[in-house]
Amino acid sequence: MPLESSHPTLADSYAVPPLIRAYRGERPETAPVWFMRQAGRSLPEYRELRVGTDMLDACLDPELASEITLQPVRRHGVDAGIFFSDIVIPVRLAGVDVRIVPGRGPVLEHPVRTAADVASLPPLDPAALEPIREAVRLTVAGLGGTPLIGFAGAPYTLASYLVEGGPSKEQLRTRALMHSDPETWAALLSWCADITGAFLEAQLEAGASAGQLFDSWAGSLSLADYTAHVAPHSARALERAKALGVPLVHFGVGTGELLAAMHGVGVDVMGVDWRIPLDEASRRLGADVPLQGNIDPALLAAPWPVLEAHIVDVLERGRAAKAHVVNLGHGVPPETDPTVLTRVVEFVRAHG
Ligand code: CP3
Repeated sequence: MPLESSHPTLADSYAVPPLIRAYRGERPETAPVWFMRQAGRSLPEYRELRVGTDMLDACLDPELASEITLQPVRRHGVDAGIFFSDIVIPVRLAGVDVRIVPGRGPVLEHPVRTAADVASLPPLDPAALEPIREAVRLTVAGLGGTPLIGFAGAPYTLASYLVEGGPSKEQLRTRALMHSDPETWAALLSWCADITGAFLEAQLEAGASAGQLFDSWAGSLSLADYTAHVAPHSARALERAKALGVPLVHFGVGTGELLAAMHGVGVDVMGVDWRIPLDEASRRLGADVPLQGNIDPALLAAPWPVLEAHIVDVLERGRAAKAHVVNLGHGVPPETDPTVLTRVVEFVRAHG
């Protein structure tokens, strides 16, 4: 056999990866699959690397962030890497005192609650994003042909951490501020849109092939509030990413009522959590919108036949949409057995 035939051809090296084809509305031979929070505590090799390093410091160490991004791609053979970082990284890089408390989430030394608090938020110096660009460059080189997904937190979810000072179930203070002081609210969301938009743009310019905006907590908003007080800022956060022409995904938890409005901020693909089936999501969005999701993360802990039947149902309902990228309905729970995730990938490759 001539040597060349076992090597990738020029055409292969220019081939568009299945993930990107699906994000553009095509149906590759099998449905692409990756997992939100695939990097992280479910992996023993991650826990080992992280010993003694603070979460946000790990995100700002290019070699470490890159290696952590590559771990789940090597182990599970997923169709994409998701850049290892955090939605509060641009907040930290702007100079705001935010930490990640293990088992809890982002916590601020000084919550942002008044007009004066918002006015004193510092701008983000683009040069501060250099460790992010460097980590993305290293990761893209390490991934070979597998695409890297860049991401950012949406202005509302980011603002909820700033106003509450930490994780919160219903974001009561945040939603109160939205209505009691709309001007301060708009200034706060504009600041969030600028820094988070710059964070996403930095990843895309450094080589990420797609971008996902996480508005994880938007599900606590009414459609009217989302449309009036949030959507314009999310659209603004995506403006610079849109100019780069890469596929963009938008995701939130409990956002069944907001799907069309979230699509309307100008993304290509909608992520769907586990609360509504994909055929229903497709009915709400129109069949020409590619979908991503929506395996219930809880079922990763169920006996395999239960999980398998659920995946089959997700794949079948996903046929209602123009294209489907298989994922969970939210992140991998930290206590997940990683061998189950590998088995899900193998099953989707065989049946998707
Ligand atoms: O594979 C990946 O998805 C890794 C990259 C990633 C992280 N955070 C790493 C991380 C991504 C995409 C995020 C986004 C993020 N961060 C979101 C949006 C996605 C979502 O889950 O809805 C949100 C809301 C945050 C804020 C945040 N950061 C939370 C709620 C937590 C969990 C706190 C905990 O310990 O349970 C974090 C910390 C965090 N971000 C961890 C990881 C791997 C865990 C920290 C650790 O390992 O010590």
